[in-house]
Amino acid sequence: MPSTTPPASLYTPPRPRSASPRMGLLRCIWHGDGDLLTLMPADAYKVRIGPLGYSRRSIVIVNDPEWVRSIMTDAIDIFPKNDLMKGALQPLVGDSLFVSDGETWKRQRRMVEPAFSFMRITKAFAAMQKAVGDHVAMLDQRVESGEPFSLDFSMSHLTADIICRTVFSTLITSGAARDVFESFTVFERNVSNVKLSHLIFGRAWSKVPQSQLVLDACIRIREQLGKLIDDCLAAQENSDDPDAGDNLARAVMDARDGDDGAPFTRDELIDQLGVFFLAGHETTASVLTWAFFIIAERPEIAARMRAEIQAEVGDRDIAFEDIKKLVFSRNVFREALRLYPPLTFIPRVAAETTTLGGRKIKKGAMVMIAPWAIHRHELYWDQPDAFDPDRFSAAREKDLVPGAYLPFGQGPRVCAGATFAMIESTLILAELVRRFDFHAQDADKVVPVARLTTRPREEIMVRVTARTAP
Ligand code: HEM
Repeated sequence: MPSTTPPASLYTPPRPRSASPRMGLLRCIWHGDGDLLTLMPADAYKVRIGPLGYSRRSIVIVNDPEWVRSIMTDAIDIFPKNDLMKGALQPLVGDSLFVSDGETWKRQRRMVEPAFSFMRITKAFAAMQKAVGDHVAMLDQRVESGEPFSLDFSMSHLTADIICRTVFSTLITSGAARDVFESFTVFERNVSNVKLSHLIFGRAWSKVPQSQLVLDACIRIREQLGKLIDDCLAAQENSDDPDAGDNLARAVMDARDGDDGAPFTRDELIDQLGVFFLAGHETTASVLTWAFFIIAERPEIAARMRAEIQAEVGDRDIAFEDIKKLVFSRNVFREALRLYPPLTFIPRVAAETTTLGGRKIKKGAMVMIAPWAIHRHELYWDQPDAFDPDRFSAAREKDLVPGAYLPFGQGPRVCAGATFAMIESTLILAELVRRFDFHAQDADKVVPVARLTTRPREEIMVRVTARTAP
């Protein structure tokens, strides 16, 4: 338990009410279905390991950092990716990096890793700056009109734009990229990631059926990704410039298997680049939505960020080298990631009967690693529900419980884009907060739910005004 004391009056942003397992189940039945956060019993934030709600299939929540580490690091073959999550994502991204296991995953990870090297991040930064610049121009118009708009949508649009520019060197407004984004919005709203009624009544290993709407969206996204890939290949072939199309797509196209020297096939490229699009913008958009909501509610956070930006950067544009100096802004992002980890749950399945923490885990059981619960666990955090960015300050960082903070996962399958996401998000937060005040509507009605990522149940509507306060 931490030794230093945080300030007494901290802001507590929205969280769903905990229910007893029986009440959670009744609520879900009453609403027809629901999300897993609705089913989270109060005990989920107290126990080190335990059953999660009532279901026909055994679901075990594992919170203890040491056992979580063992699942995600030492025993990845016993606890592969969960079949329900795979079933939801495979129509979109095939058997690609995010969902594959075993030798297939090892080969893909080896081939994709160099695409995320430091050199490429510094190059990607210029594309991030341009996308943020266009977003600022769009927000200037919103200031003029005074019209409210969806914070969720605007963050998804911005982060998708960054992914399109860095992966394909194209703008989100271009034909194919726009179609991918629009179809992805349909996918995100309607995909059944973990359908509760299925969890409760379905057999282990049985598939969650997806609606035709979702399957059609996947077909459209894959067709358009194919076009973007063909455009990248053509740009490379038709140019004398060796740096032409120097983007993440090209790095993945140039990747070769270490054993047989084979490149990814066109279908595999669609799978892998589909993951970059999915994992690379939806996650960041989710947490930025929460970060801007909190900033809108607490002007004193914006004030501290502005003071830091002024001291470290002054009035010029934020450069790559400045990002590491914006310590408080980064800590605001890290704390938003703690309270609203985009991957609410990181589910695994027990491929064989085994034991964990002295408890028998039956073959087929769902093993839930829930960053949502671990990040709010009363054994590991002081005032777990309070927003306190200074937890991550140099003075207090020593109080953090090792392994109790895992928004990017851990072990060999740790997020490949974590550095990318940290840099991009710090830039976005700092460039927008230094210029605008955000004002959220109906803040008291905002409730988080677990969809593909942690999202507000209803879109958060905001207005922006030109910054007035220091
Ligand atoms: C705040 C933003 C992000 C968060 C919170 C996040 C979180 C995660 C987590 C928790 C995992 C591990 C999942 C598991 O173990 O089952 C993961 C994997 C992955 N992420 Fe991210 N991610 C973010 C941004 C990104 C970005 C920007 C990219 C790419 C540009 C990316 C690409 C990937 C890929 C390719 C994997 C699969 C790695 C593997 O299984 O080998 N992510 N992410």
